[in-house]
Order: sequence, then structure tokens, then C-alpha cells
Amino acid sequence: MIGLFDTHTHLDSTKFDDDRTETIERARAAGVELMVNIGFNRETIPTTIALAEQYDFIYAAVGWHPVDSIEMKPEDLDWIERLCSHEKVVAIGEIGLDYHWDTSPKEVQHHVFREQIRLARKVNKPIIIHNRDAHEDVVKILQEEQASEVGGVMHCFSGSWETAKKCLDMGFYISFGGPVTFKNARVPKEVLERVPIDRLLIETDSPYLSPHPFRGKRNESAYVSYVADAAAEITGKSKEEIAIITMENGKKCFGIV
Ligand code: NI
Repeated sequence: MIGLFDTHTHLDSTKFDDDRTETIERARAAGVELMVNIGFNRETIPTTIALAEQYDFIYAAVGWHPVDSIEMKPEDLDWIERLCSHEKVVAIGEIGLDYHWDTSPKEVQHHVFREQIRLARKVNKPIIIHNRDAHEDVVKILQEEQASEVGGVMHCFSGSWETAKKCLDMGFYISFGGPVTFKNARVPKEVLERVPIDRLLIETDSPYLSPHPFRGKRNESAYVSYVADAAAEITGKSKEEIAIITMENGKKCFGIV
């Protein structure tokens, strides 16, 4: 059985309330050896920490999602900072900008994003970047805030090669999820092909963004196997090579030994 690393999942989502244990078992049966669960607001940070404490193969990332930026208070940032010393917390995220859902004003999103990059540099943790329709501003803020000092992951990357190149230059890993399995996903496939193999990561973002042939249905960590298949096909490597490389990259990125 090859060991896969799902670097971005939300197993604590209420969508798994009826079958969370079975979902985790299915992931293990599919060869998923490690996962990073993402807690991104007041509700999901505690449930993420609880999962990481329950399972030795689940690690945690904690941060404040751009969609919820407007809700973040100074004490929340202090809370995230304290959690960074938890032995299972490996990153700050997901953080970034989301111009698709218009729930938090851009200025507020920028402020919350900058504050969390500064925190990451202070506590020396990598960051996991959520970027929806905001490529230019995400890159600009990462550059201005010297995010290259900590690096991290461009999660479920959907941008152009030009954007990917700028993120690679700052030391970031580029992570691909379900959308790269879609037949018509020309740009993501092209970008994946060009990403240096030592900077490639795979993920599910479950329960969202299901790969083909589950598009539109609930996603789960076991399906990272389909993303590995797509990455193998695009790069011309074997699935086993992709598994080994992305496992190594993920461990390095998150400092997991
Ligand atoms: Ni996510």
C-alpha cells in the first residue's frame, strides 16, 4: 500500500457527523498515511485540535479564513498564537483572500491576512493560502509581508503559471486538488506539469471540490488517491513516485519528522 498525504482536509465538517470514523477508516484503507486538518474560525479550530489529539496521523492547521475576516477579534489572533505551540499544530491557515464570496470587505481581508502572516513569521510556522479570484493581491501581500521567510502552501491552486512562478520564488509549495482531475481543467494541468517536482503537494479540501468521477458529491480524504492518479498522468511518473515525492514534500513543508 502506498502512503498518501492529504495536506488539506476538513474532517471535522458537520458533513461528516454521521460517518466521521468510517470516513477516516476509508482514507486509511485507501493508503492515506497523513492528513492536515484545517481549522479556520471559532467553530472549526477547536474541532480540528480535537481530531489531531485523537488520531496520531492527523495534524492541525489553525487560522482565520478570509470569508470570516470581519468576525476576527484581537483575542482570536492571540488564541491562534497560543495554539501554535500545540505539538500537533503544523501551520497557520487557511488564510488569504476571497473575492468570490463578498462577506468581508477587501480592506478587512487584507488586514487580517497581513496580521496572520506577521504572526507566522513571529512563531515561525508555514502558512496555508486560500486564494479565490484574488491572485494579484495575494501575491502582492505575500511579497510585502515577506512571507518567503516562512513559506507554506498555495492550497488548491487555480491560478496561472505566472502566479505559480511568483509563489515558487517565495518558497511556496503548490498544492492541487480535485479540479485537476477534470477533463476540461487545461490550465491547472499545465501548471502542475511545470511545477518543480520537489514543490508539488496533493490534497482533497474535503468535503468540498470532489475529483472526477465524484464531482458535485461530498468529497473525502480517501479520494486524494484520484488526485495522485491525475498528477501521475500529467507528469508521466508512476503513482507510487507521486506518493513518495508528495509525502516527502509535505513532511518537509510542515516540519513533520
Ligand atoms: Ni479548505
